[in-house]
Amino acid sequence: MAISNEKIEQMMASIQELKAAKEQEIEELRVKWLGRKGEITQLFDEFRTVDKDQKREFGQRLNALKNAAAAKIEELRNTLEEMAGPAAASFDLTKPGDLEELGARHPISVTREEIISIFSKFGYSVAEGPEIEDDWHVFSALNFPPEHPARDMQDTFFVQPEGDNPILLRTHTSSVQVRTMERMRPPIRVICPGRVFRNEAISARAHCIFHQVEGLYIDKNVSFADMKQAILLFAQEMFGADTQIRMRPSYFPFTEPSAEVDVSCNICKGKGCNICKGTGWLEILGCGMVDPNVLAASGIDPTVYSGFAFGMGIERIAMLKWQVKDLRNYFENDIRFLRQFEAAI
Ligand code: PHE
Repeated sequence: MAISNEKIEQMMASIQELKAAKEQEIEELRVKWLGRKGEITQLFDEFRTVDKDQKREFGQRLNALKNAAAAKIEELRNTLEEMAGPAAASFDLTKPGDLEELGARHPISVTREEIISIFSKFGYSVAEGPEIEDDWHVFSALNFPPEHPARDMQDTFFVQPEGDNPILLRTHTSSVQVRTMERMRPPIRVICPGRVFRNEAISARAHCIFHQVEGLYIDKNVSFADMKQAILLFAQEMFGADTQIRMRPSYFPFTEPSAEVDVSCNICKGKGCNICKGTGWLEILGCGMVDPNVLAASGIDPTVYSGFAFGMGIERIAMLKWQVKDLRNYFENDIRFLRQFEAAI
């Protein structure tokens, strides 16, 4: 059969299909196609008789065919070598496969989700806001007097300290409560989870970056008793049905009256242990009735509405829940620490 485009194409297709299971078969294929009397070599012989004006085109096709055949033979050789290598010798199909290592959720995320899920059962929805805030939303709208120490560089990270309304990293997520009050009319029931920043020396009990969940409830006739009940229910969901709470008077610029809340130590059941430092109580959050000045600053009439707010550190709750003694463990990404929570999660 004389040289033709069709023939070259057919041969190209056959070459792509070539298979061999042994070295000897590969050698036979090489001889069949590329050997001195091989099919492609024969085509090159025929090529001499091709018309001059077709020589260029056929020449290119023949070369492509020859290269494809050489490449295929090489590929068959490589495959065979790989299969015969040391890996092949030890290939045992009955062995169990390698397990993919799965990660687990971080204990701080798990605790945050748990807090959110408890409050969403009580009808609270989640509100979020920016981490880089202005002075108004972090301090002024929350009734912080101009000389309050939190406004000092020693306590707060400023991004842009100059001007009437400096820009800073929020020190609490109360700023999100202000944004919510500016945006929504009562009844308001939100929780604000998020990352906060304080210019603190890092120690086992404090970090300059940590997480909070703060809550806000505003409606007509909201009382201190409502707040106490909400916090008690939360504490019992979070730490167990027999958990008790106690409130101690406290002070925050944005709430009046204010309180600090302790839960009964779930480790010694109130008897006193080294976790609760022998007191039987563990501090978990701050709270209070929203100061009328704060409501007014966000455009809510304090003669009509009242409300309460509370705020807690997620790390603190997680430390109590899992009895972690050093807060820094949460941020070091040490896999040996994190692994301990896989089962709990
Ligand atoms: N914003 C306070 C803090 O960061 C917590 C708090 C929130 C206290 C709401 C009272 C009411 O410490």
